[in-house]
Amino acid sequence: MFLIIVLLFFVLVLSAILYTKLTLGINKCSKHLIGKVVIITGANTGIGYETAKDLAYRGARVILACRNEQLGLAAQKDIIAETANPNIQYLQLDLASLSSVRRFADNILKNEKQLNILINNAGIIGSKYRKTEDGLLLDMQSNHLGPFLLTSLLLPLLKTSGASRIINVSSLGYQFSNLDVNDLNMEKAPYNSRISYGNTKLCNILMTVELSNRLKGTAVTANSLHPGVVDTNMAIVANNQSLLMRIFNLLTPYTKTRWEGAQTTIYLAVSPEVEGVSGNYYSDCRQISTSKLAQDKNLARKLWEVSERLVKINDI
Ligand SMILES: NC(=O)c1ccc[n+]([C@@H]2O[C@H](COP(=O)([O-])OP(=O)(O)OC[C@H]3O[C@@H](n4cnc5c(N)ncnc54)[C@H](OP(=O)(O)O)[C@@H]3O)[C@@H](O)[C@H]2O)c1
Repeated sequence: MFLIIVLLFFVLVLSAILYTKLTLGINKCSKHLIGKVVIITGANTGIGYETAKDLAYRGARVILACRNEQLGLAAQKDIIAETANPNIQYLQLDLASLSSVRRFADNILKNEKQLNILINNAGIIGSKYRKTEDGLLLDMQSNHLGPFLLTSLLLPLLKTSGASRIINVSSLGYQFSNLDVNDLNMEKAPYNSRISYGNTKLCNILMTVELSNRLKGTAVTANSLHPGVVDTNMAIVANNQSLLMRIFNLLTPYTKTRWEGAQTTIYLAVSPEVEGVSGNYYSDCRQISTSKLAQDKNLARKLWEVSERLVKINDI
């Protein structure tokens, strides 16, 4: 009897792995990106690194926006060596610092004539309750307010670059949120890192909704995505932080490789299927629907206004 149960368990696990493998979304578009300029945040490792490498293979000029100089330069060297594309640049960017974001954006606006693809990929999970030098909640600033400021500052260049694309890497984790747009720093609510991460990822989707609204009538599009559960540093941190995540991973024993995890981002960056498509959410290279809350246009507009105030965009 025991043997039968063990056997059944293995059959179930194998079927789950097989099912996930067979339904995995892989980008099939082989379009080149010669003459195009791409910025990817958090491109030194994980999903960002795999995305950067793919777009480098396609001939784009890829700007690796990373917070750690040593890691950024190492990624630049590795990508150039592997793809033989010399047009890969590292530029320092710490999304948890408003002045760093402004410096980075100034540099881009001064030196780049065009920007065709902006990928807001970088993110953190499982941080303790900590405020940054700007007095903002560390994970909210790293995952939402920093990318929000970056995107806002680069919008003029994106708009003059023709059919450019903004891609925001969110997460299914947005569903574990308890967002109060009037309390983005979680000063009123008790801090819980899992909920806080969910809040930041819901903000990624809401920012995309409002962006697509504000970009109507331009050739710029904005979409967001869930990359899957991917074998990166972030997954290790998430597993170590939460018993719930460990149980979840036990029940879904299959995680994507980094290459697999980068596929939906690459799809949104290059596929003609999403030409002119804006405001949607994707997973496995397919559009999927989000919760009512994540589609709430009023909430998205409110979040935009609050975010503008917090990053002091109008003071620039
Ligand atoms: N892995 C998953 O299962 C999963 C699932 C759903 C969504 N996602 C999303 O996918 C995206 C990429 O995550 P990943 O799994 O590839 O994680 P990862 O391997 O931990 O990579 C995260 C990247 O973000 C960078 N980063 C963190 N804080 C930063 C800051 N303040 N300024 C600039 N860069 C910063 C990291 O830099 P350092 O190397 O210097 O730390 C690293 O390059 C994230 O937005 C995440 O929310 C991941």
